[in-house]
Amino acid sequence: MKIIANLKMNKTPSQTLDYFMNIVPKSSDFKHELIFCVPFTSLTIGKYLTQNTNIQLGAQNLSDEDEGACTGEISGSMIKDAGANFVIIGHSERRSKFKENNKLINKKIKMALKNRLTSILCIGESLAEKNTLKTADVLKEQLEEGLKGIYENELENIIIAYEPIWAIGTGKIPTVKEISNSIDVIRKVIAQDFSLNAGKNICVVYGGSVNNKNISQISKVKNINGFLVGGASLEPSGFLQLITSVSD
Ligand code: 13P
Repeated sequence: MKIIANLKMNKTPSQTLDYFMNIVPKSSDFKHELIFCVPFTSLTIGKYLTQNTNIQLGAQNLSDEDEGACTGEISGSMIKDAGANFVIIGHSERRSKFKENNKLINKKIKMALKNRLTSILCIGESLAEKNTLKTADVLKEQLEEGLKGIYENELENIIIAYEPIWAIGTGKIPTVKEISNSIDVIRKVIAQDFSLNAGKNICVVYGGSVNNKNISQISKVKNINGFLVGGASLEPSGFLQLITSVSD
């Protein structure tokens, strides 16, 4: 299983140092793949502290441009050089607060591929869309527009994170059946647009209010490859406990 922490806008570089000092000594106890998506400013310290461990680093965004006159932006090559192998793209907080649309997200995925970064593409429906039974349509649109022009062999460098917006930071989670249905939709769209094998092999994780208490329940979802954890990843001992509860 892949267990991905999204630290969001939390932890200064010094706090990141403390954080990894607590996590790293325990990380070899786990068979899972551990990926920590930290703020840009924490990548360098993270790289230093996690070298020669089973921990990998990710960023939470990247520019759709290569380099140059883009004040305040961070490029894929900068992220890569700072120690990341992964990057979250299209998180719902960026879609809503920073008005990122599928077209921009598609450009960012191409930029990540160009820089040999694995994209963690976040998709998911709002509560209104869920209530009007539009989940499958929303997922299909976000996937097809986000992955426009991507070649099948590039899918091994793309992880799909199913994150229903209404479940993020709310303590509410979908049922096992709802998560499983959405993951089926994702695999079906990939199978239709690429190939049956691609649909079977695409890595799909679930995110949204995953915590110590509900992780064993969510682990029952059969067609899942891992989890994307926000709030519950911030405190090292609680997060280590969560990782322990994930079955293989
Ligand atoms: P929470 O786990 O805090 O709900 O956040 C989920 C998330 O947005 C991860 O990307």
